[in-house]
Amino acid sequence: MTLTHTKMQIPLVDLRAGYEVIKDEVRAALDEIFEGMQLTIGPNVRAFDQEWAAYCGSKHAIGVGSGTDALQLAIRALGIAPGDEVITVSFTFFATAEAIFYSGARPILVDIDERTFNMDVAQVADRITPRTKAIIPVHLYGRAMDLKQLLSLAADQNVAVIEDACQAHGAVLDTGKKAGTAGRAGAFSFYCSKNLGAYGEAGSITTDDDELADSMRQLREHGQVTRYYHPIVGYNARLDEIQAAVLRIKLKRLDRNNQRRRELARMYNELLAGVPGVTTPEDPGGDRHVWYVYAIRMAGGKRDALREALTERGIGTQIHYPIPVHLQDAAQFLGYREGELPVTERVANEVLSLPMYPELTDDQVTYVADAVKAFARR
Ligand SMILES: Cc1ncc(COP(=O)(O)O)c(C=O)c1O
Repeated sequence: MTLTHTKMQIPLVDLRAGYEVIKDEVRAALDEIFEGMQLTIGPNVRAFDQEWAAYCGSKHAIGVGSGTDALQLAIRALGIAPGDEVITVSFTFFATAEAIFYSGARPILVDIDERTFNMDVAQVADRITPRTKAIIPVHLYGRAMDLKQLLSLAADQNVAVIEDACQAHGAVLDTGKKAGTAGRAGAFSFYCSKNLGAYGEAGSITTDDDELADSMRQLREHGQVTRYYHPIVGYNARLDEIQAAVLRIKLKRLDRNNQRRRELARMYNELLAGVPGVTTPEDPGGDRHVWYVYAIRMAGGKRDALREALTERGIGTQIHYPIPVHLQDAAQFLGYREGELPVTERVANEVLSLPMYPELTDDQVTYVADAVKAFARR
């Protein structure tokens, strides 16, 4: 296919195409819920918690209102409070840091590994202090971070690991377990565009720790143990029946969809290999990456121009994420300066996410790759 062909319209993510596949099942499930009118925690939430725990290989899964809730409840349940420090990355969605801010603890932001865009573990050891209570690695873009080294460092220092697996549903870790199950707790987001996405807001926390699970279940519903008895102050962080029903339907297709995402990423990588100025993401092989985001790097300060050229060709793109946490206005009080996390800053200036969703066709990938090549060679 060449660019003289008809202009295509290819969104970054096509939720409508995903819905077409499961429409009848979703409608039947919603009908059943509306007939019964059990709308908050009910049979679907209970079943989904079990199904998600079984899929991930964790003892417990606690359905919550969002990925931010998942992180926030895990942090709270671990007793992290003002005066404490939590080490994480700056190259992530802002919510990772936000959940730390809510607890009153201080985020300590470290740089990323330029090859994987995940936390540079070598930097973590230097930043551990007596105040460090947790480390939050982020499996960015769906690539499971190598955790073995971090887990042993954290164990030596008696620091909890909370995995931000909000982008990594089904990705497999270097430990052989699934993302979200290696630390004390794992946080998942089911935001609509995610590999496992609800039709509204939803999230889940995974853990093998019975006590922590009880505590997070309590925090999810206003701190109550039984209805209207509140030993602690909690949150309204419940998963609702409608979202749980949708997630149960979509979970059955998650592995198949992740496999298709891997095929698409491989296709992009092959088509874009050697294009001047373009760096394609490393494919770690196996089930290590679930490609929530497929992002290339465009060197030479040409990223924004490439984005415009693709928009003109009808191609949806995004920048995940243009401003790292340490340079956000809301985080200025932390005192970071530009230049302090050089890899993060360089990558943030160069990344561009291309269309990625399971229903994307081979022809569409070819069309996008041709458009990138045409830009790079002009
Ligand atoms: C890495 C990361 N952390 C946390 C979150 C927060 O999840 P939610 O939007 O469901 O609150 C997201 C969601 O986009 C995310 O990508």
